[in-house]
Amino acid sequence: MKTVLLAISLLVASVAMVAGGDNKLALYYDYTEDERSGSQRGISNQRKTTWRIQHNNMRKKYQVEYGGRYRALRWNAQLEEEAHAWAEEIVKTCVNKAPGSGENPNQWGVNAAVRGGTRSFQPVQNIMKLWENKLEKGYPLNQVMTQVLWRGTKFVGCSDAASPIGSEKTCTASVCYYGKAGNCLFKKYGNWTEAVINAPGCSANCPEGIEKC
Ligand SMILES: *[C@@H]1O[C@H](CO)[C@@H](O)[C@H](O)[C@H]1NC(C)=O
Repeated sequence: MKTVLLAISLLVASVAMVAGGDNKLALYYDYTEDERSGSQRGISNQRKTTWRIQHNNMRKKYQVEYGGRYRALRWNAQLEEEAHAWAEEIVKTCVNKAPGSGENPNQWGVNAAVRGGTRSFQPVQNIMKLWENKLEKGYPLNQVMTQVLWRGTKFVGCSDAASPIGSEKTCTASVCYYGKAGNCLFKKYGNWTEAVINAPGCSANCPEGIEKC
């Protein structure tokens, strides 16, 4: 009985927040996603495609602007799976955090975004816009975006998770993993735009089954 009451009050709270700012669709989403969040295994093919295309649109724009040739990111299922596992980890506490080295043995690059107050996923475009807006702050404040643009990174996989129904805090986490990681060797290059274009991938390993990356 207690759990049911808690669940109802949480729903009311999240509905109120949705009404305060989000689109109407989110209302519907909250009720249905709550039912199946326990078995949710990851993201739709459509959302995967959006993640990939949004990344590559940014790369097309900025890699050329920074004097490089555009190099696309390819989607990778292993990175997607590991990103999903980390998103599930983040929604336990609703606090954005990076995996420790033991939790990320291949040292993939990691970008994550958390939004509280709703269990509906943020549109990919909004998350990418938030990351893009950091760009002009310079490195390291823009490190999520230098990772997106890093020309030496060839693979990406993203996923999302929502907090389970009845958990203390309502939120979603969206996570992207990158192989190889970006964001290294800045001292070797003139500045961060040059590093984004000319530096290699920074971590050692490629995703499983890929010999060179
Ligand atoms: C980095 O250096 C290049 C080449 O010298 C220059 O064109 C570019 O504007 C610089 N970028 C930044 C962020 O200072």
